[in-house]
Amino acid sequence: MDFSLTEEQQMVRDMARDFSREQLLPRARKHDEQGCIDPEVFVGLAELGLWGLTIPEEHGGAGMGNFELALVLEELNAGCASTGVTVSVHNSLLGSPIRRFGTVEQQNDWLPQLASGERIGAYCLTEPNAGSDAGAVKTSARRDGDDWILDGTKIFVTNGAFAGLFIVYARTNPLEPGAKGMSAFLVPCEAEGLTVGKAEKKTGIRGSSTTEILFENLRLPKEALLGEENKGFTVAMDTLDGGRIGIASQGLGIGRACLEASIRYAKDREQFGRPIGRFQAIQWKLADMSTQLDASRMLVHRAALKRDAGERCSLEAAQSKLMASKTANFCADECLQIHGGAGYTDDFEVERLFRDARITEIYEGATDIQRIVIARSLLA
Ligand code: CAA
Repeated sequence: MDFSLTEEQQMVRDMARDFSREQLLPRARKHDEQGCIDPEVFVGLAELGLWGLTIPEEHGGAGMGNFELALVLEELNAGCASTGVTVSVHNSLLGSPIRRFGTVEQQNDWLPQLASGERIGAYCLTEPNAGSDAGAVKTSARRDGDDWILDGTKIFVTNGAFAGLFIVYARTNPLEPGAKGMSAFLVPCEAEGLTVGKAEKKTGIRGSSTTEILFENLRLPKEALLGEENKGFTVAMDTLDGGRIGIASQGLGIGRACLEASIRYAKDREQFGRPIGRFQAIQWKLADMSTQLDASRMLVHRAALKRDAGERCSLEAAQSKLMASKTANFCADECLQIHGGAGYTDDFEVERLFRDARITEIYEGATDIQRIVIARSLLA
């Protein structure tokens, strides 16, 4: 197994690392406190081509794969997890399904605008009664001549406040209550009948946008259907295979930031007449954090490479998210413990990292959903 990166991969990772250190880390506290990402960050991401990292070159993107995206997302999330999830959702949950399921016209229409960051993407699956049970979606799309009429409410939509294009999962066959009767639609933000609803106040990743999105009598042309009618659940799940690798990369970034903060503090903080890093109790924590992060990274990279090879990677993606999200929370917990009382105040970034880490075990499939996906694959 070759663990080395190509020159191009090193270059893109280093570019993301520099941007994260110079532009994201200094703003992370402000993003958290103000509940939004600095507009200059959006411009910077566009200048570096990160909105279009995985969009094909013929559509204005960089034409890279999930592996390079994982490298980039680890770096961005090490600086600011709010920015990290914004970029992850845009690339994995919108750019990816249009590439994988879109018609030539849909790709020509939407991918260039996503690649430039002119339109940011959002993914509308979750509803008040359809969270882990994603097949329980009630939002409906009914035919009216050649058009579709969309009605319903989506919740917890990342990027909801500023997204320019939404992928919306709706029931197109009311006689099929579960996963079978759903379809995917591409809905531009200016569509009449689309309203951005309540913005959530969250425990962590407070700089990212999470909103309700409401659809009322929203008319869509037949060209808005993405993939086959009534096959939307497959689009949703295939898309989440990629998204979960993105959130696993977020876990890596947050966890690594915790390890780096812990090392700095362990060298700096003195108790009993010596730096606390000289005590074995602290050394063991650092060793465990580092080892779990490396193991998680290998799972993330394996899943990304399998997806890039065009193979189904549901098992590997779920394993990588399960492990990396647990590692992020483990590292955040240990980092806070190493910082002691100081870590429980906002004098240090660990309190933000601790809050940001928590969501990685919840969104894009909670930890127990990953276990279900893994177990079903083992038993199949
Ligand atoms: N790729 C392709 N097809 C897939 C698939 C995949 N990864 N996973 C399932 N399918 C197909 C199955 O093969 C099956 O097809 P057939 O009927 O033709 O055999 C069909 O989809 C139904 O699959 P299941 O029977 O497994 O469906 P289920 O109802 O039992 O659900 C589940 C399985 C794993 C629990 C699923 O509902 C799930 O993943 N739930 C979690 C939802 C989730 O992750 N939500 C996150 C929303 S996004 C977000 O978090 C916000 C954000 O913006 C960050």
